[in-house]
Amino acid sequence: MSTSSSGGFKSAKACVFDAYGTLFDVHSAVRRGGSELGEKAAMVSELWRQKQLEYTWLRSLMGAHVDFWQVTADSLAFALSASNTESTALHDELMTMYMSLDAYPEVLPVLTGLKNAGLATAILSNGSPSMLTAAIESADLGSVLDHALSVEEVGIYKPDSSVYQLAVDKLGIPKEAICFLSSNGWDARGAAHFGFTVAWVNRFEREPERLPGEIEATIKTLDQLLPLLGLDSTGQ
Ligand code: 2OP
Repeated sequence: MSTSSSGGFKSAKACVFDAYGTLFDVHSAVRRGGSELGEKAAMVSELWRQKQLEYTWLRSLMGAHVDFWQVTADSLAFALSASNTESTALHDELMTMYMSLDAYPEVLPVLTGLKNAGLATAILSNGSPSMLTAAIESADLGSVLDHALSVEEVGIYKPDSSVYQLAVDKLGIPKEAICFLSSNGWDARGAAHFGFTVAWVNRFEREPERLPGEIEATIKTLDQLLPLLGLDSTGQ
């Protein structure tokens, strides 16, 4: 774990989490439903994710918003076609799998610790409301999350500042008292630039993004969040 200062974390009243890649493993869809892709599986999964993110940024710049379900379907169609593995049945199967992605193993105990400590918890995600509801239900996280906030309420994708402002407005907590967690380096930067206290969950050992916004801590998994907040593993 590396931190520049932990003051902001210790006075946090809420922890707000990115969903895809941070709480939920986006590659679990291809792992579970993409066996016919064989040795192309990892490449398709990576390209799917990369295109999905690009389409959110590009549609935001174009002023041509569609919800994340559509973006996810379009980017999967691109990835399957680009790797010569186009099949309607496979596309449908992988989209179905995307509705019930695996949560990373530490997610439930960490969220439980946060609730024990009396902190507010929320997801703030590009995901559409129905995608978030399905993911939360399948991972059984409903009892440890106070809010599931979707960009659909503002009609533009991260890292537009109106998305981060949504968390402030819905939680009724000032941005200075919100700790934000994302495994997506660009999302971590966007949230820090907005004014949250940010820990980048660098699960994939990525290179830091050269973008504005000062990230206060870099952690490898969410297991390192409770110590950062000055709490033990039970939230005491
Ligand atoms: C999310 O908003 C960026 O995938 C990311 O959940």
